[in-house]
Amino acid sequence: MNTQPNRIIIFDTTLRDGEQCPGATLNVEEKLTIARQLARLGVDVIEAGFPYASVGDFEAVQKIAQTVGVESGPTICGLARATRQDIEAAAKALKPAAHGRIHTFIATSDIHLKYKLKKTRPEVLAIAEEMVAYAKSFVEDVEFSPEDAGRSDPEFLYEVLERAIAAGATTVNIPDTVGYTTPTEFGALIRGIKENVPNIDQAIISVHGHNDLGLAVANFLEAVKNGARQLECTINGIGERAGNAALEELVMALHVRRQFYNPYFGRPAESEEALTNIDTRQIYKTSRLVSNLTGMLVQPNKAIVGANAFAHESGIHQDGVLKNKLTYEIMDAKLIGLTDNQIVLGKHSGRNAFRNRLKELGFDLSETELNKAFVRFKEVADKKKDVSDWDLEALVNDEISQVPELFHLELVQVSCGDHARPTATVTLRTPEGEELMDAAIGTGPVDAVYKAINRVVNVPNELIEYSVQSVTAGIDALGEVTIRLRYNSRVFSGHAANTDIIVASAQAYVNALNRLYAWLQGQGQESRDRETDKAVASV
Ligand code: KIV
Ligand code: ZN
Repeated sequence: MNTQPNRIIIFDTTLRDGEQCPGATLNVEEKLTIARQLARLGVDVIEAGFPYASVGDFEAVQKIAQTVGVESGPTICGLARATRQDIEAAAKALKPAAHGRIHTFIATSDIHLKYKLKKTRPEVLAIAEEMVAYAKSFVEDVEFSPEDAGRSDPEFLYEVLERAIAAGATTVNIPDTVGYTTPTEFGALIRGIKENVPNIDQAIISVHGHNDLGLAVANFLEAVKNGARQLECTINGIGERAGNAALEELVMALHVRRQFYNPYFGRPAESEEALTNIDTRQIYKTSRLVSNLTGMLVQPNKAIVGANAFAHESGIHQDGVLKNKLTYEIMDAKLIGLTDNQIVLGKHSGRNAFRNRLKELGFDLSETELNKAFVRFKEVADKKKDVSDWDLEALVNDEISQVPELFHLELVQVSCGDHARPTATVTLRTPEGEELMDAAIGTGPVDAVYKAINRVVNVPNELIEYSVQSVTAGIDALGEVTIRLRYNSRVFSGHAANTDIIVASAQAYVNALNRLYAWLQGQGQESRDRETDKAVASV
């Protein structure tokens, strides 16, 4: 392996750190769908999960290793605390991957040592060395992270890194776990590591950071200037608390400003050679997929993938763009895979046209998925004259959502208006195959529908977020509903698209309840969850 690559390695942790944010929980099939898309996007490493944390996580890492971790595919990585049982679980889950990596970590800041680990510095040094060597006994590719590096004493950090590299770490990752550092400080930390760790040329320097102060991406770019060559990031920046550094922002900053960054890679400024392996035209699609499956909405003003990222509202800007795009646009929307949203299909479009357009949009569906999506397309095309690329994307993302259909919504009907009490009737098919009907009155039609559904499902929960967005402009647009509900302290999300927003609301709710129900059913076998919950919450 070339230990000092002349480009940036993109390490995606959407399925591990990203999935740790409340409500973003994905099932195994959904993780697999995202992993396949990450491979199409061209990430170098997929951190697929934390195998020891739960049976579900183990299974997801193993399946991703089997199906996405092929010879020509990305490296598949599993997280492990610096303990034997975590490392063994990671090694086992990663076994089917052509390129597997164990990522082991232990905290190095004094505050973590004193209060969390209750260990001395020499003890942590010894554990880091021993556990890296143990991981190395299973795989060649070992990554080591000194957790909370951003608040660790640099002198101690140098020592830990030197010992980890000597024990076999091929990547050393520097996490700003609590999102505390500023770009100048983070850049200096990386420079210090380069200058003071004697064997640093035998490992790749990676960075990992959280966005508590909104500085994660800026910190990473400063780290790149100082020698970091792997960036750990997530799609849409999802993750613990304020999230992680956003992949799309890093990649596009390195692409749009490549003339600025090229010299740090020893290239002439004008070099057109890409700084990452990412196929930028897959960015928008990946963002939508992750948002739909996790229920984590993308804010409209989010850089690169937000709904307004390429919209010009002010008259002065519109005028300028009409005269010459370059007056106010630093990148072409097509670069991230946004089409001009041309109208492509309608109710007379056949199966072949549908299949071909989906192919062009980069969807690789199985025959069953295609059949299901085609039925949905026909339903929508009957109600909506023009079905755009964005509509197709919303429908297909909905159809490939892999939430087990324990409860199935058979019927929803509401009556409401300014002189009526909103009343809803619903029929659900239960997991046992029974059809149950119930009705309820609410403060509004959605409230009435949710109350009626709750009467059937009968699992106490609290709706904590409800949002409806239109997929395209126009009165006949598809409405996308995303909801989040809480059961005890757990959050579950649901998502659905339909031309009728009451139907979409009902489907999104049933979708979230199905996640909750599946989780309740699987709870017994996942007892390890509880044991590692605290540790997971701290990474
Ligand atoms: O934020 C963090 O420190 C982590 C480590 C496990 C890399 O997620
Ligand atoms: Zn993290």
